[in-house]
Amino acid sequence: MPFKYACTLDDLWEGEMKEVTVDGTRVLVVHAEGGHIGAFAASCPHQEYPLIDGLLEGNVLTCSAHLWQFDAVTGAGINPSECALQRFAIKVEGEEILVDTGQPGAGL
Ligand code: FES
Repeated sequence: MPFKYACTLDDLWEGEMKEVTVDGTRVLVVHAEGGHIGAFAASCPHQEYPLIDGLLEGNVLTCSAHLWQFDAVTGAGINPSECALQRFAIKVEGEEILVDTGQPGAGL
């Protein structure tokens, strides 16, 4: 699948996250500390709660439902460690953040 528009850099300041729909897939775009930008499946891998309702502190994303925690840069589970967020390929062109939901990928 080709990269598609998700949002602009202006929509997403460092420390913020935003849920968008790209190609019919709900995507959580996260601008973590240090300028890292990543795109993840928007539902928690535990019980599918929306991660946008969670808390982003530094580079730790905490799901609001049962407080599972994830590394907001890599998507790796912190607590518990044996889970992970699904990551999508992402790139920036000009001011636009583009995501390919058909392709796994590292963040920026
Ligand atoms: Fe996210 Fe349970 S649904 S921690």
